[in-house]
Formats: sequence, C-alpha cells, structure tokens
Amino acid sequence: MTAAESDPDRPRARTGERDRPMSDAPTPGAVPGSFAVPRRYFAGKAEWEREIESIFRHSWLFLAHESEIPEPGDYVTRLMGTDQVIVSRSESGQVQVMLNSCTHRGTLLCKADVGNASHFRCGYHGWTFANDGKLTGVPRHRELYGRDFDKAAFGLRTARSDIFHGLIFATFDADQVELREYLGDLAFYLECFLGVSAAGTDAPYGAFRFNHQGNWKLEADNFSGDGYHLRHAHRAGFDLGLMGTQAGTTEGVCIQFEHGHTLRAQRTAGTSEAVFPGYPEDRWPEIQARLSPDQVDMFSGSTVVHGIVFPNLAFIHTPRAGGFDPGDPDAAMVQFRLFNPVGPDHTDELCWLVTPADYAPEWKESAFKTMQRQHGATAFFESDDMENFRRMLQVNTGAETRDRIPANFDLAHDHAPYEPWFDGPGNVVGTDISEVNQRWFYARYLDLMED
Ligand code: FES
Ligand SMILES: [Fe+2]
Repeated sequence: MTAAESDPDRPRARTGERDRPMSDAPTPGAVPGSFAVPRRYFAGKAEWEREIESIFRHSWLFLAHESEIPEPGDYVTRLMGTDQVIVSRSESGQVQVMLNSCTHRGTLLCKADVGNASHFRCGYHGWTFANDGKLTGVPRHRELYGRDFDKAAFGLRTARSDIFHGLIFATFDADQVELREYLGDLAFYLECFLGVSAAGTDAPYGAFRFNHQGNWKLEADNFSGDGYHLRHAHRAGFDLGLMGTQAGTTEGVCIQFEHGHTLRAQRTAGTSEAVFPGYPEDRWPEIQARLSPDQVDMFSGSTVVHGIVFPNLAFIHTPRAGGFDPGDPDAAMVQFRLFNPVGPDHTDELCWLVTPADYAPEWKESAFKTMQRQHGATAFFESDDMENFRRMLQVNTGAETRDRIPANFDLAHDHAPYEPWFDGPGNVVGTDISEVNQRWFYARYLDLMED
C-alpha cells in the first residue's frame, strides 16, 4: 500500500464535536461530571480476563515487522493476547500466523524466539508441521491411526493476517473488518513517516523485549496523547537539552479515530514550507512526491507524532530529538512499541526501530542511538514513565483506592473551534495538552468491556 492510496474522499478535519462526554454509568467515588475510570480496571484479575475475551480476541494485533522474517522458513514467536503464536514465512513466501501449540496434546511446538525452519516437530510424540501450519508427519500413523486418519484436519490453527507498510498484524476474529478498514483514517498519518521511501520500511535492529510491572493500559494511555506529563515527569530531559526541536515553540493537535485509535502531533509553529527535519535533504523531493499535498502540510516541520493503534500498539516519531554523537547525521526516529498484558500487573513489551528501508546505515544507526537513549528499555523517558506506572500498580490494588478513587481524565473538556494547519481526517482537536485522546481510548475500551 502506498501513501497515494489514502482515501481522497475522506471527511475533512473536524474540531472536537465528537469528544466523549463524561461516563454515563455512575462511577463510585467520581466527582459528578467527571470522566472517571474505576481503578479496578488497572489491577483486577477478572477485568484482565475480560479484556482478553472482549478486546484482544477480536482486535487486529500487531506482531512483527516483515523484515524480521525476510527469507522462506524464517520465523519469530510472539504473543497475541494470551496466545503463543508463530509468525513464519512459508516456502512460498507467504506470511503465516499460527497458534504455537501442537494439535495432538497441545505442547508448545516451537520453543525458540527466532529462527529458520521448514518444519516444526513436536517434542512430545513427534508430530511434524510444515511452516505453513499443515500437519505433514505423524510417527507410525498408518500402523497406529489407520488409513483413514485425516492429517488435513489437524493443521495448526491459523489467524487472519495482513501487512501495512511492513507491519504484520493478525486477528483470530473472522468477523473483524479488514486491516485497512480497521486502521481507517489513522493510515493517512502513519503513511507520513512509513510511506516516505519507495523501498518501503525496515526494522534494522529487530525487536527488543522487556517487562514492566504495571498495567498495559497505562502505556496506551500515555502514548495515546499525554502531553501533560512531559515537562514534569521528563523535566530532567528538557533541562539537559536532550529534547532538540521538541523544546522549541510548537503548535499541536490531538486526533481521534474510529476503533479507538488516537494520535497527537506537533510541529514547529509557523512552518510554511515543505521541510522534513531528520530526513536527508536529497530525499525531500521523494518524500514530497510520495505523500499527498495534505500529508505534506501535516508532516512538514513535524517535531513529534505519537499515538496508538487500538488496543496495544504505540508509535512515536521524533525527527531530531538530539542525543546522538557529534558527527552523526540528523535522523528521524520511528519506534513502534507493543505492550502485551500477561496479567493485570505485568506487561510484556517489545519495541522496534522502523526506518525507510534504503536509507544509509549511518542514518539508521543515528536513529537507533536516539531510540535507545530516549525510548529504549533503560532510556530516560522509560525510566521516568515506568516508575510512575509501577507506583500506580502499587496503590491500585488497595481496596479503598480501587473502589473509591477513580482515575480522572477531565483535562481540556471544552475545545474552542480550531482550524488545523493541515486538511486531514479524524476528529482534530486544537490543543496538544489535553486528555481528549485518553477519553477516546477509555471510552472505546469501556464500550467493549461492558458490551
Ligand atoms: S503433543 Fe505434540 S505430538 Fe503429542
Ligand atoms: Fe512519558
């Protein structure tokens, strides 16, 4: 899919008329008129189980970047909600997403995180599956199972999968809409940085994995559009001058989309030309040619774009965040980050640097340094945020806290009419310090949980 495939008939930007109202259902302990989310959703086991059933079993879930499995036989193993899956490239080059569980008695079939295999042989009784999921070998099957045994009925359960600019998503829900429809108008904005090169995208350093002691929604909430915490939780980063252009004079918006996705974008105030800081200047004409004029307007002079693909994939683009070594080229960092809820209090995270596929190795390395220093597992942003998430978990299990002190999302309920600097889709709210995106995320979340 190319940037040019953005829907030309998309609705024009609106100015906040679809901001969610306060919760309809009375929330214990809530201030009347507040947008409040009960704390039990951040710590309860029953709520976590319901999330898996009501949200994770039905959503399109991100799993891997295509460049992690470039050759036939390449595979990685990942989580889809609570299910272990194998993401493999078959001998015919197709990407498959299959449950990593033998169809005989159910043993974990593939025990490695990454590898290359034409077949997976179960360690228990030796059933063997091809890398497209078909059952191909059953030890002594004629002798013990008889001639009528139908191997075709015992293939690995395969999910629907699809790829958007190199990003592999899957769902087990046959009734879910197609991926492109699920992403909807968010695609217009994702293409601004995923669609800059005709060569496509790359994840040159693969996936990084870490765990955090906290509820997954805190990450979704934070990445969905929390501009409010930046100068407080991350004040040290600003004081040390590590934020580059993000510390300058900016203007910003929060945008909400169908299916619960959100995005927050900032640019250098008053940008009037097509400029793409963080990208090599000799590639600017290509960027301009590949993006639509409206996308160029939106992306030009960008200082940060971040948001979520509902429910559990975050993205952040920072064009020139600083922190790289003298002599390194300016390089835009794009990180995708997945947060899998392995329990109400434990989140398994994976993150990827995603770059244009054909940019120079030095450019990719510079972007990688920025990612590791700013948003890697031990980077200053993450240290600040994870500590807050851990402290929230620490108190959210308290009985009185859980039942009487809901989380509050009232920031910037009222939005003045606003004319954005670009003509783009979604519900565009003209303030980048707002909780409108969090309200959108939690409203979608609660809709699905209470269905
Ligand atoms: S459990 Fe896999 S072959 Fe028996
Ligand atoms: Fe943060």
